[in-house]
Amino acid sequence: MTIRTAVSDRFELITVPRSRGVPSFADDVARGLQGDPKEISCKYLYDDVGSALFDTITRLPEYYLTAAEAQVLADWGWQMVRLLDAPVDFLELGSGSAVKTRLLIDEALRVQTQLCYSPIDISTEALRQSSLALVEAYPGLHVRAYAGDYFDVLGSHAVRLGRKTLAMLMGSNIGNYEPEDARELLALLGAALRPGDGLLLGADLKKDRATLELAYDDPAGVTAAFDRNVLARINRELNADFDVRNFAHVARYDAARGSVDSFLEARHGAVVTIRSLNLRIQIRPGERIHTESSYKFTDDEIVALAATGGFAPAAAWHDRGKRFAVHLLVRQ
Ligand code: AVJ
Repeated sequence: MTIRTAVSDRFELITVPRSRGVPSFADDVARGLQGDPKEISCKYLYDDVGSALFDTITRLPEYYLTAAEAQVLADWGWQMVRLLDAPVDFLELGSGSAVKTRLLIDEALRVQTQLCYSPIDISTEALRQSSLALVEAYPGLHVRAYAGDYFDVLGSHAVRLGRKTLAMLMGSNIGNYEPEDARELLALLGAALRPGDGLLLGADLKKDRATLELAYDDPAGVTAAFDRNVLARINRELNADFDVRNFAHVARYDAARGSVDSFLEARHGAVVTIRSLNLRIQIRPGERIHTESSYKFTDDEIVALAATGGFAPAAAWHDRGKRFAVHLLVRQ
């Protein structure tokens, strides 16, 4: 069941409710903090405060990913939109950073007069704001936005594709999924697309440990603040009493798995009460709560991952420092 709201002539918002059995924030926190090792899913990092902190991260010099991807799009966006025969429509997983998405919209509107842009995002507010700004900026643009979890939206058959579609999964967002989940997401996306449709996949490349660990633990402490905010969020939303300052942000590159793993490490032992969950959690001195994994790839690994969703490689571009890759893959 979907709820359709016509906000303006060129903007539709389709709300896809969570499927049954999908755990809530409270369920996930209860399970993750009672497990060993303890974990909190990285999707909960992005409340309003977390989203604002992430935005600051994307402008830090140490977090090179955003600037590198923007450079690839600025250098090669003209070619990306011309490799699939025009006209195309866009389907983006994530509501897109204003700058990067606009680069591609600009390019598409040079080769066609009309474009339908369909972002999928968990945050209705982010979707509404970015979509209204886009329809205002581009007279030839129609936005059909889907509010919901990627898996729920792609699995719901709510996504209606008209013309040939160029899907986008940018910003190395694919890196936040465990390998089996990444394969499942690409399979769902592949099933939603049709032969000849494209996928632009932006992913961070494997590189030296020092560069990677600095990107996820900047000296100004913005990433640490972003990570610790999830404890403050648990305090706010679940009536808990985490002493946020007792937790240090730690980012370690596990070269064997190819992932930068982020943790909140307790300086001292503690007992935390989560009143809304009726829970008491014991934390040992030095104990770590896993908060995020950010997988890194080689170009071959990106191609192999996409193959599991039925995609074949068509082209790949890199920033001038070869830190970040954008692949165009075509659904077979
Ligand atoms: C936007 C999810 C791709 O993993 O690089 C940035 C999030 N976490 N700094 C990433 C993030 C810490 C980011 N993604």
